[in-house]
Amino acid sequence: MANKQFDVVVIGAGPGGYIAAIRAAQLGLSTACIESESYADPKGEVRLGGTCLNVGCIPSKALLRSSELYEEAQHGFQMHGISAEGVKIDVATMVKRKDNIVNQLTSGIKGLFKKNKVTLLPGHGKFVGRDEDRWVVDVNGEQVHATHVIVATGSTARHLPNIPVDNKVVCDNVGALSFEGTPKRLGVIGAGVIGLELGSVWKRLGSEVTILEALPDFLAAADTAVAKEAWKVFTQKQGLNIQLGVKINAVTQSKKGVKIEYDLGDESKVLECDKLIVSVGRVPNTQGLAADAVGLQINERGFIVVGEHCQTNLPNVWAVGDVVPGPMLAHKSMEEGVMVAECIAGQKGHVNLDTVPWVIYTHPEIAWVGKTEQQLKKEGIEYRAGQIPFAANGRALGQGDTTGFVKMLACARTDRILGVHVIGNNASELIAEAVVAMEFNASSEDIARICHAHPTLSETMHEASLAVDKRPLHF
Ligand code: FAD
Ligand code: NAI
Repeated sequence: MANKQFDVVVIGAGPGGYIAAIRAAQLGLSTACIESESYADPKGEVRLGGTCLNVGCIPSKALLRSSELYEEAQHGFQMHGISAEGVKIDVATMVKRKDNIVNQLTSGIKGLFKKNKVTLLPGHGKFVGRDEDRWVVDVNGEQVHATHVIVATGSTARHLPNIPVDNKVVCDNVGALSFEGTPKRLGVIGAGVIGLELGSVWKRLGSEVTILEALPDFLAAADTAVAKEAWKVFTQKQGLNIQLGVKINAVTQSKKGVKIEYDLGDESKVLECDKLIVSVGRVPNTQGLAADAVGLQINERGFIVVGEHCQTNLPNVWAVGDVVPGPMLAHKSMEEGVMVAECIAGQKGHVNLDTVPWVIYTHPEIAWVGKTEQQLKKEGIEYRAGQIPFAANGRALGQGDTTGFVKMLACARTDRILGVHVIGNNASELIAEAVVAMEFNASSEDIARICHAHPTLSETMHEASLAVDKRPLHF
């Protein structure tokens, strides 16, 4: 590998990195992508795709689907007159299916690298310094030279002090996606996205799930109406035990499992469980990059400081994805990867963080884009709101799943859509229409004038846009 020279070297092959590498190569730049052994297979071969494909988006959605089917077979069939007795779940098969999907997709990226002529450099990448007008990057002791470097090293789970994670009993996302059986009692610290998604998986498979959350408010980042509806469904209908405003004091492991001592208001409480998931956010991977050696600027929270085109303080060094400030989402990382590759090739690139959608893959799903009602109030922006329940939608009734609603917020003066919030079946797909609308500065009237197929859940988006103008037709 000695003295290999490239136009672009990408460090990290998660969604930010592999997409940046593919796009750079498509644009005719000689490109290499360095990926460490973080997710290597049992033979030591590196696996591409980063957190998302290996221990994040994809495996979690595979397990969510299996658990939803199990739940449906047990409790959703009766209303259709279908009886299914003796329904059982084999967790090993479920986990194997998930592993197969991961293997298929991670090896697919190797194929995409070959197709697009991206050179894969397996190993840990770190900065060495400058050689005339090129950067020198070390890959497991060998050096490569690059005109441009894109740092896409991603993030890993944040752990809490004095709570060691062994990924057998006390788990972060890595262990929590590979349980060998259904724990009788599952504890979760953190009622964020991972806590709710994985808590739901194991609840459906039969665990007693208790989620301990530090904040006094549930889903504080979501629109309050959505958070309220979600709270009702998760705690009252689905039986997730979520405790808000807790302070964790100690976690101890014994042969019997895990004991969590915590305060809830003035009360001291103890939770005993068989497994514990710690899902309290993620930290950027900047250690081990030798950032100091080259003076790469990192902020006090460990993120690489970047400008609006993801350029760092160093010439021709860029950074994308979870390692830079902003939402820690795969699609945001990919957008940044494309933007940087296009900027390097002399094109114009742009990522609009205001229209990045959020999705929580619980059941019902939760998805939103733009501002929440509480944000608009806080910012003193005058708005009109339209909210339509799925209970008024024929398709939702036919599918036997009428929980939730679509809520649209539009500027009172211009009618431009400022935010859309969905809780309900298929919210993850429905939100795409709102993202397109907002990206093109559409008004609620624009959505109202679009013909939506009947009967579809998307008609609820249409009705919500009519409701902004107080003229819904079916509610
Ligand atoms: P990463 O995916 O973290 O990839 C970084 C890569 O860089 C890794 O492969 C790592 O091994 C490699 N690397 C790090 N340092 C070095 C080095 N020095 N040298 C060489 N290689 C290095 N997001 C969504 O949008 N939708 C979801 O449904 C979703 N679900 C999630 C579920 C879970 C359980 C988790 C944990 C996350 C989920 N996310 C989801 C978040 C998503 O996975 C991340 O936002 C996304 O993976 C970030 O992409 P990235 O390329 O920036 O970093
Ligand atoms: P999160 O930020 O979503 O939630 C963490 C929760 O833990 C917060 O509610 C926080 O208040 C709480 N918390 C923090 N410290 C605590 C403590 N000491 N005790 C109790 N509670 C505490 O983080 P999470 O769930 O770990 O996920 C990490 C990131 O991964 C997400 O922010 C998201 O960016 C990404 N992700 C995205 C998914 C999606 O798009 N569907 C799915 C899963 C993860």
